[in-house]
Amino acid sequence: MKAHKKEMVTAQAPGKLMLLGEHAVVYGRNCIVTAVDAPVRASVSPSDEFYFDARDLGFSQAVDVRESDFPKQVAFAAFAVKNFCERFSITAPVRIATESIVTAGRKVGLGSSASVTAATIVALSHFHSKNMSRQEMFELAFKTVLDVQKVGSGFDVAAAIYGGTLLYRRGEPAPLKCDKLGLVIGYTGIPASTVDIVRQVAESIRNQPDYYEGLFDEINRIVINGKKAIESENWQALGELMNQNQEILRKFRSPSESCGVSSEILESLIKAALDAGAYGAKLSGAGVGDCMISLAPEEKQESVADAITKAGGTVISCLANVPGARIMGEGN
Ligand code: PMV
Repeated sequence: MKAHKKEMVTAQAPGKLMLLGEHAVVYGRNCIVTAVDAPVRASVSPSDEFYFDARDLGFSQAVDVRESDFPKQVAFAAFAVKNFCERFSITAPVRIATESIVTAGRKVGLGSSASVTAATIVALSHFHSKNMSRQEMFELAFKTVLDVQKVGSGFDVAAAIYGGTLLYRRGEPAPLKCDKLGLVIGYTGIPASTVDIVRQVAESIRNQPDYYEGLFDEINRIVINGKKAIESENWQALGELMNQNQEILRKFRSPSESCGVSSEILESLIKAALDAGAYGAKLSGAGVGDCMISLAPEEKQESVADAITKAGGTVISCLANVPGARIMGEGN
């Protein structure tokens, strides 16, 4: 039977926030990540050339997907198309249009590279009627992210594809049962380069491997206890574990000798949240800038948000624990 020709398929994938375990996850330990409502959409439609449209980034142009060096605005989407077409020996060109729905998500580090990769692969698999499991889509998306940025644990790709809240170890996402997470998110105003920070930490590990192995093992223990706290909805315990995790992140010797992967601005937002009654607070992601997260009882969330704002942060209202990548619509 001749395959039914689709006109346009749109998929959407969420962003992510690291709850516990950043950096250690790059070195084989576990982390906990939650998918957040900062989605990216990718639409695939037939075309007579491979064409990429990322209007919110000012890019609209044909791209040769046989190359491996793509314009940076569309590098993840273009590599996703290249890898997908190679995997399934597809030569028919498509047009890919991508957009960040919460444009703020891109700027505050909620994971748009992984989300755009995931959305593109999910849309392509549906467009070309390829029945891929979530794990297969995750693996192709993770390979794509590594092709572009070379480093990373894939935790953000796992959140984008699977959604929800996951215990994650490199290549192995394990969904956690979690109904609500009372997070208050504060943006520092400073964009951080994950790749640079991961490289700086790697350099520092080369000088003191045993020291970091010890820190990563401690983080792993915190993550495993965090899983138990989430499953038993013991928010106070989870908050305490966030504080312990933050304490270890301060002990990294790079990028800062005095506060590791934390920074002055992250520390002041964290302190403000804790003083206002949060159970726990920590940086989320590579550190230095981007976002901090705090976990607070419902009745304290407003005062925690006010305190973060007063300390110079921007509160990001965004739901956590949202569903993973899915098809939004199809037209023909
Ligand atoms: O900076 P973010 O939010 O992309 O998080 C990076 C987390 C790291 O563990 C430092 C890197 C990784 O790929 O796991």
